Amino acid sequence: MNQDAMKKQAAEAALAYVEGGVVGVGTGSTVNHFIDALATIKGRIEGAVSSSEASTERLKGHGIPVLDLNSAGELSIYVDGADESNERLQLIKGGGGALTREKIVAAASRQFVCIADESKLVKVLGRFPLPVEVIPMARSYVARELVRLGGTPIWREGFVTDNGNLILDVQHLEIADPLQFEQRINNLAGVVTVGIFALRPADVLILGTPNGAKTIKA
Ligand code: A5P
Repeated sequence: MNQDAMKKQAAEAALAYVEGGVVGVGTGSTVNHFIDALATIKGRIEGAVSSSEASTERLKGHGIPVLDLNSAGELSIYVDGADESNERLQLIKGGGGALTREKIVAAASRQFVCIADESKLVKVLGRFPLPVEVIPMARSYVARELVRLGGTPIWREGFVTDNGNLILDVQHLEIADPLQFEQRINNLAGVVTVGIFALRPADVLILGTPNGAKTIKA
């Protein structure tokens, strides 16, 4: 079974957690499979809150209403992918650059169901370069501070987020304490969002594997 088939398997297994109402929808290739699966039960939901322009377009393409988070209230569920997860369901996200809206929708949801193929499960976060969204004028300052924290930040040149900001991808990290590291980077002036999801980790992780979908709960 290839990686994409495992992503699809995890995405389809997440449908069992959707109980109607408004569904928070993340971003990425695994979520694209989830959106396609969600379309098959669209009569049972009120609509979706989307974390990116790309997901919004796909949802609308399936005729699923896309609602503003400010009018949707608290969401019962948020379904999104991840670039890495540890066994405590703390995540690195933002490979697609949608981390700020993803973090907002995750925070506004009662349950966060993360979907991924089995290669995303790691012992220690940090092999995947950590995305940090920054205000453009703070790019060099934040990069210097990230070097002081032990990382090697690389500017994702030519990429602008949906919010008009820039991304630094921080290489060579071993994040022993994701909660503390998330807070430290959050405190740097000019940082909009760091792609560590430890203050609000996932509640459920569904991993696609060659032997079927495997579920880990926090
Ligand atoms: C988007 O910004 C990311 O957080 C994605 O959730 C993450 O990159 C996972 O993407 P795939 O599902 O494409 O692997």
